[in-house]
Amino acid sequence: MSAFHDRNGQAYCEDLALSTIAKEVGTPCYVYSKRSILNQCSSILSAFSTYPVLACYAVKANGNISILKEIFRSGFGADIVSQGEMERSMRAGVDPKKIVYSGVGKRADEITAALRTGILAFNVESAAELEMIATLAADRGMVAPVSLRVNPNIDARTNPKITTGLFSTKFGLAEAEAKALAERVRQLPSLRLVGVGCHIGSQIVDVAPLAEAAMRMSQFAVGLRELGHELEFIDLGGGVGIRYKEEAPPSMESYAAAVLGAVKPTGLKLLIEPGRLVVGNAGILLCSVLLTKRTPEKNFLIVDGAMNDLIRPTMYDSYHAIHAVKTAAGPLEKYDVVGPICETGDYFGKDRELPACVPGDLIYLASSGAYAASMASNYNSRPRAPEVLVDGSEYRVIRRRESLQDLWELEL
Ligand SMILES: Cc1ncc(COP(=O)(O)O)c(C=O)c1O
Repeated sequence: MSAFHDRNGQAYCEDLALSTIAKEVGTPCYVYSKRSILNQCSSILSAFSTYPVLACYAVKANGNISILKEIFRSGFGADIVSQGEMERSMRAGVDPKKIVYSGVGKRADEITAALRTGILAFNVESAAELEMIATLAADRGMVAPVSLRVNPNIDARTNPKITTGLFSTKFGLAEAEAKALAERVRQLPSLRLVGVGCHIGSQIVDVAPLAEAAMRMSQFAVGLRELGHELEFIDLGGGVGIRYKEEAPPSMESYAAAVLGAVKPTGLKLLIEPGRLVVGNAGILLCSVLLTKRTPEKNFLIVDGAMNDLIRPTMYDSYHAIHAVKTAAGPLEKYDVVGPICETGDYFGKDRELPACVPGDLIYLASSGAYAASMASNYNSRPRAPEVLVDGSEYRVIRRRESLQDLWELEL
């Protein structure tokens, strides 16, 4: 049974009624299921259990420290893209030797901090970055572990804004350049080449491009080995999608089978960087209805959550299922579910059928565990919503609601 389900006409998270959380914590509010997160972690690891794998959770998907703790305790490492994500992960108890540092624009101070932390690898995306890491490591008498992120020019067939494996994007190195940089590493005693990798995009529901990327990376790694480069791992990034609406993402087993078929013959350790897959369907955004508004064209349901709490519909045109918390309510109405922000783009869903709502009714947006709270902002001077972690019939507030004072606390 899904962690979010109906029981006696009420929506529950695990064994706790969402209405209880709304009453005690208020809305808008993110609610996560601990059981669902742990189940995802173990199903990912068990799908790969026949081969040496390190799963580095992409902290950007949801970086709440309490959630990170659960994920790291399950055996995961971290895929980070900033010093902030590294420090969060360290506070949550990650083993620094399980951290990979991705991103096209690492700052010198961030690289230095990661060198001091002693991470597993820097995923290098340009010649300039390679030289910068080499200099910073040499200045400190250190040897930096680097992995070359290749851009395999494979279309992940997902939203263009989260497609990262095409030459038209800013990510990764063409194979020829990566090969040249591997040679360059040999000349730089402050660098050690430990891996190669790629990340072709996010919310990928077709296993074929993932399998193709695995094959290309494996062939590339073998080619480097033939040139005398000793590698430790292949990193295939994240990107496996989840079901928001009618998508049919690959099962963990079929994903594992597809990539292991390519990687196994190399004998190299496999790294993966799942984010959305771990937390996406383990969270919801709980909102209250403020009012309904009928115009000659539309019927609007105006709720207290907004695009600053969940920007995915605005940013990617993405779909989130919207449910009433009181599930046994009467006749259905068609609504555009919108927030109070002064942008037409501030919407959660259009022409959605919901029970006729009155002010104070509760609704929730499904599949809001990933890229929701972590992408939240204070736009329109809206305090960010709290986060709640449910465990059975209990819950804990794992991030308090921001106060109005928090909004201007840093302003001088
Ligand atoms: C380098 C890298 N790894 C992993 C991820 C996680 O992707 P996902 O949440 O789709 O698994 C991302 C997301 O953008 C990324 O850029």
